[in-house]
Amino acid sequence: MPLTLAALADDAAGCTRCPLAETRTNVVFGTGDPVTDLMFIGEGPGAQEDEQGLPFVGRSGQLLDRLVLEELGLTRDRVYIANVVKCRPPNNRDPVPDEIAACRPYLESQLELIAPKVVVTLGKFAGQLLLASKEGITRLRGRSYPYGGAVLVPTVHPAYVLRGGAEPMAQMRADLVRARLALRDAGSPLAEAVPAS
Ligand code: URA
Repeated sequence: MPLTLAALADDAAGCTRCPLAETRTNVVFGTGDPVTDLMFIGEGPGAQEDEQGLPFVGRSGQLLDRLVLEELGLTRDRVYIANVVKCRPPNNRDPVPDEIAACRPYLESQLELIAPKVVVTLGKFAGQLLLASKEGITRLRGRSYPYGGAVLVPTVHPAYVLRGGAEPMAQMRADLVRARLALRDAGSPLAEAVPAS
């Protein structure tokens, strides 16, 4: 039987491939439209995501929702949102390489099954993983990359934007505009949504 996103989520719900399984409340598999052209990939769940089992529901998520609406005219039900690691690292520490490696097959299967035309990575961990790079996010962002048959647009993490300063905000907005242009170039109907002003 071919693998479906629902079957993959069921499998992930019982995952014990890394020690994060011992401290998580919920596996945060991903949310949104499973046949979308646009996928966002963050780092890993925080406290509220762990509590609710949904990605980007805390302050970072609220900012992400707002900027995606303002720059692309899209609500979260029209895109798909997932993370590099599906379980919360304790005390919001960074995920370690073994955890990222253990979780990677889930993300790769999500990307294969959803087959988005445009992938936006949020922050260093997702950008480095998908681009197989060790460069920091400030060097990676600012352009788009081919990613299989898709286009990958790396941007900063919304938590970094929340820490303040006009520049991170302007960078994230510019990268979201880049994602919109990539959707348009790919002929995606998502590019026809009208950005909220
Ligand atoms: N930060 C992330 O990278 N992912 C989430 O789901 C929430 C916060």
